[in-house]
Amino acid sequence: SFKQLVFSGVQPTGNLHLGNYLGAIKKFVALQDAYNCIYCVVDLHSLTAQLVHDDLGDQTRQITAAFLASGIDPNKHIVFNQSRVMQHAELAWIFNCVARIGWMNRMTQFKDKAGKDRENASLGLLAYPSLMAADILVYRATHVPVGEDQKQHLELTRDIAQKFNNDFSGRIAARGLGVEMKVGDETVNGYFPITEPVIGGPAARIMSLRDGSKKMSKSDPSDLSRINLTDDADTISKKIRKAKTDPDALPSEVDGLAGRPEAENLVGIYAGLAEISKEAVLQQYGGQQFSVFKPALADLAVEKMAPVAGEMRRISADTAYVDSVLRNGGERASVLAEATMKDVRDIIGL
Ligand code: ADP
Ligand code: NA
Repeated sequence: SFKQLVFSGVQPTGNLHLGNYLGAIKKFVALQDAYNCIYCVVDLHSLTAQLVHDDLGDQTRQITAAFLASGIDPNKHIVFNQSRVMQHAELAWIFNCVARIGWMNRMTQFKDKAGKDRENASLGLLAYPSLMAADILVYRATHVPVGEDQKQHLELTRDIAQKFNNDFSGRIAARGLGVEMKVGDETVNGYFPITEPVIGGPAARIMSLRDGSKKMSKSDPSDLSRINLTDDADTISKKIRKAKTDPDALPSEVDGLAGRPEAENLVGIYAGLAEISKEAVLQQYGGQQFSVFKPALADLAVEKMAPVAGEMRRISADTAYVDSVLRNGGERASVLAEATMKDVRDIIGL
């Protein structure tokens, strides 16, 4: 069977927010005790939104500092930026030739980001999931912690792995490179694992503080819609105070949160920060007004986030240290990625 390995990435675009932290980075930290992990700042992905970034280096250091400030250990695990390991782009090209255009056209994130003028979207935006599959599979990673918005892309990663394994099963077996795996009733010799998403918990999808129907996002023009990892205590409190809610008290855990998206979101944030279930939050605050719950949530958010923000500031000021982490991580990642690419070139006859 495949060696268990965790991979995930975050784009170096805009401010990191509480959704990124609770939905992704906090999970990265939790997984590092039980697994070998590779965490990547996916700078090539950020080119799909905008080709020239004058501050891409700083943004990359900022995300790296957030990983380190949150507790990821760069000595035990690999922390690096994607563009340093060109095998990601090489494998992505091969996956572009494995994946079908129809698969890409169905991606809801592409539809959202391309908008109405789809013919004018960049080919990179369409092919984005192919690069994401390469990021994961160039390390033959078995587990990928992400927020719920990435679920469809991970399914595509599994489809690409499956098609590669099926199409080349004979060539994989002939070279002794395969791992026996069950596909339905059949046993095939797969080269790539069928990656498991690690999604879930109360904070897998944090919504905008201003609109319970939109996810909290770096690209939302309203700064009140999100809590940034760099926000100070007063700003965090203000944003929670101004968060949109409904007029009712919080429900009991029996009544539940169905039909109350803004209340559900704030309860989810509390649960994620406190590392308890939403039901446990309602056991404590059910029947209380938001005038009671919001200050409690603000206190908790400040208590949990302020130390991370402080560490981030301290670490990102030490540019030489951050760069050395990325350089060292990139060197270690390159060795692993090149070993995979040697096999892949051999399998497809390049
Ligand atoms: P964004 O979606 O904010 O542009 P990325 O695409 O770089 O950021 O996402 C980084 C990680 O954060 C991904 O695992 C993504 O699923 C997760 N994530 C992003 N937004 C949210 C959210 N609102 N709630 C939970 N997880 C999120
Ligand atoms: Na995202």
